[in-house]
Amino acid sequence: MINEARKYQAFYTKSTPIVDYMVDKLLLNPTDKIFEPCGGDGVFVKAILDLNEFANIDICELNPASIEVLQSKFSTFQNVNIRECDTLLDNELSFNSNFGGIYDKIIANPPYGAWQNLAKRAILKKMYSALYAKESYALFLFRCIELLKEEGILSFIIPDTFLNLHMHKAIRKHILTKTKIIELALFPSSFFPGVNFGYANLSIITLQKKSNQTECFSNSFNVLTNFSSVEQLASIKEYELKVYSFLQQEIFSNPDHAFLISDNSSIAKAINNAALKIGDIADCVTGFYSGDDKTFLQVNSPDLKNGKNYDLVDPNKINREYKNAINILDGFEGEKHFLPIVKGGNTKYLKPEGWFMNWSKEAVSHYKKDKKARFQNPQYYFRFGIGVPMISSSSITASLIENKLFDQSIVGIFPKDESLTFYLLAFFNSPTCNKFIRTINPSANNPANYIKKIPFISPNEEQKEIIDSTVRSILESIATQGHYNEQDENSLNKLIEKIFGF
Ligand SMILES: C[S@@+](CC[C@H](N)C(=O)[O-])C[C@H]1O[C@@H](n2cnc3c(N)ncnc32)[C@H](O)[C@@H]1O
Repeated sequence: MINEARKYQAFYTKSTPIVDYMVDKLLLNPTDKIFEPCGGDGVFVKAILDLNEFANIDICELNPASIEVLQSKFSTFQNVNIRECDTLLDNELSFNSNFGGIYDKIIANPPYGAWQNLAKRAILKKMYSALYAKESYALFLFRCIELLKEEGILSFIIPDTFLNLHMHKAIRKHILTKTKIIELALFPSSFFPGVNFGYANLSIITLQKKSNQTECFSNSFNVLTNFSSVEQLASIKEYELKVYSFLQQEIFSNPDHAFLISDNSSIAKAINNAALKIGDIADCVTGFYSGDDKTFLQVNSPDLKNGKNYDLVDPNKINREYKNAINILDGFEGEKHFLPIVKGGNTKYLKPEGWFMNWSKEAVSHYKKDKKARFQNPQYYFRFGIGVPMISSSSITASLIENKLFDQSIVGIFPKDESLTFYLLAFFNSPTCNKFIRTINPSANNPANYIKKIPFISPNEEQKEIIDSTVRSILESIATQGHYNEQDENSLNKLIEKIFGF
């Protein structure tokens, strides 16, 4: 059973500063025809009627229980029209958007990632074929842009993932070519009572429909960030915030039309103008999953972090000669069939050995067939490269994959020129690389597709020699003493900063 809140994504905008900011952004006129596409319990409608009791408002809402609430609040208003319908599928709305839109203003807090049954998802995929149908808020945004009249204004509160994520490229293109962005406010999701998205933040986007693409491209708009409290939304004082200004054409020409918003515009420029990217000089791939780690994965010590629930590996069963084996991807016969595997966890440079995977012939043939297992990118297993955990705790980290297996929580990075491995190891552990990846994707995730977009600059010979020998000394001291000299790391970071310019 799906609970009601999840089914309808009914998280209401119970925050006066947010509601006031959004209503304010609409620049309401007394004669405006206004649309609230996901009525809920009517917070926006109430705020608008408080300003103008004769405002002409159409409300759509899917949930019959919310319809009752809306009727009890607004049925006395002749100028408010409440309809129980699905905003994304409704025929009347489709008709109106096909004819160029009928609304002067639209305001919404649409459902985020709303649950859709398969049949509905199939219809949505057809109707909104360019968009990512699983994420409802982008569909609502698209739908509502279509429902605006030329020059009509819309204000939406939505997660900020549409700014960067791959899957939202089409909605970014639509916004940048069919509308003029008036303002974009970015703030933590904790400002929004009762909602916690984990890593994603919230945004309020206000835009104006404009069919002339040249005008859209020459539009410049402000991005407001660094809010320290939700109240700052109620009276925007730019000197208290960080304000970035962008030309729409600039954003459009970014890779994937991504909104690269960063403290240092030179970072965004470097990302755009890079002659080479990590994806050009290295293969970046996700690793292996047994499908059932409890059965196949073992640890070498009961004290290993997160290792409590796993069996202890018998040292006699660990194969130490595997690197020279010819058919390693078929698994091993005999007793010695456990091989070292690198797992996630933010350890820099070198991870101590701890995890071992059952690599017997039977186990490997099981991984190749099992539905839950991921025998993916096997040509990279047991090679020398670098592992970057898919999720960073704070900054991005990287450690060596010394001819080991690596699991699916890691992106394996294998430079085409193996002599670049230590340089890349230093780079992926540097603040410079962290600035790049967090500009490309502000969330704490580092999937292979984002890592590939990070710019790459070759070091000169002298720089490379210094970096290689410093990395070697860091690796040696971790291997022998369990820790390394921070000064060595600082000197690496400084050199990398010099090479990349920040
Ligand atoms: C996130 S709530 C926001 C409600 C209100 N706008 C607010 O800010 O308080 C989303 C609302 O949209 C409704 N809803 C979900 N899917 C819908 C759809 N396809 N068509 C119309 N309304 C929908 C939910 O029932 C819920 O009341």
